[in-house]
Amino acid sequence: MESSSIRHIIQNIPKAELHLHIEGTLEPDLLFSLAAKNKVSLPYSSPEAVKAAYTFNNLQEFLDIYYAGASVLLHEEDFYLLTRAYLHKAHEQKVVHTEMFFDPQTHTSRGIPFGTVIRGINRAREEAHAELGITSHLIMCFLRHLDEASAIKTLQQALPWKDSFLGVGLDSSEKGNPPSKFRHVFEMAKAKGFMTVAHAGEEGPAGYIDEALDLLNVDRIDHGNRSVDSPELVSRLRERQLALTMCPLSNLKLKVHTDLSQHPAKRLMEQGVLVTVNSDDPAYFGGYVNENYMALAEALHLNATDIATLAGNSFKASFLDPITKNQWLQTLHDQYGPKDTNTQ
Ligand code: HPA
Ligand code: ZN
Repeated sequence: MESSSIRHIIQNIPKAELHLHIEGTLEPDLLFSLAAKNKVSLPYSSPEAVKAAYTFNNLQEFLDIYYAGASVLLHEEDFYLLTRAYLHKAHEQKVVHTEMFFDPQTHTSRGIPFGTVIRGINRAREEAHAELGITSHLIMCFLRHLDEASAIKTLQQALPWKDSFLGVGLDSSEKGNPPSKFRHVFEMAKAKGFMTVAHAGEEGPAGYIDEALDLLNVDRIDHGNRSVDSPELVSRLRERQLALTMCPLSNLKLKVHTDLSQHPAKRLMEQGVLVTVNSDDPAYFGGYVNENYMALAEALHLNATDIATLAGNSFKASFLDPITKNQWLQTLHDQYGPKDTNTQ
């Protein structure tokens, strides 16, 4: 199929986004305007200079710049503007539901109250739902380069806001910070009824994915690229239909793969794994969700059926209620499913 018709399908097919860091949607223009408003100095002369600086050799090089960027977010209004801009962009790309990560420790460590962060994000979510119909959930991530005591303190701080987020996750520097470091806080979060996810197997080994499953009892794995190194793990993911939220442009920018033709998404789909496509930190990695679908489609020669499978997987793997999930799956089936060739 011609790439123009694949592009058309990607642009128009309803989809959910399940791996998106709200702080990673801070575009250079907003970064600059918030820095000016909040009198935060930046080591760049212009938004263009910022974009030019976004080249990374690994996850840590990105994280250093990403945390520096987040320092311009001070007030409720800043978190509102950030979230509003992303939700409008997602809506333009036919994202009908999104499950967004936020990193409270990045902000509370700078003296920003937890409530400031969540009030700003929530205002944008409610407004976008009313204006655009887009639904969203929030997942609070613990920074794995910090200790478990800090994660436990963050969970306790978050409890007054527990109705605002539905899950907890684990992000930041993976190597040397295995899931086992966070088993108690994940147990506490599960006991409170939260869904759980964890970044695993992005730069870390397949064994970290096993740990996230065995010790953290996660409901999804974020990234999970290294699962291809373990046939037993791939079987396990397939049997449990435990989703991977993969992020091709992130993997390319952070040199998880040198070329997208090596990306394991298609191989994993062929083995029955519930693969989804997402944008991770779109302001830093050069594309929102549709650009990620398109880059993967071009590199791996995905066809229309593959795109419909990926969009379907995004709903299957979401934390939407079963009725809404099935409604979206039915819509996809009606619009993009195999056509009945019987013309009678
Ligand atoms: N990996 C780990 N931590 C992150 C990422 C990522 O891709 N993006 C934002 N925080
Ligand atoms: Zn991520």
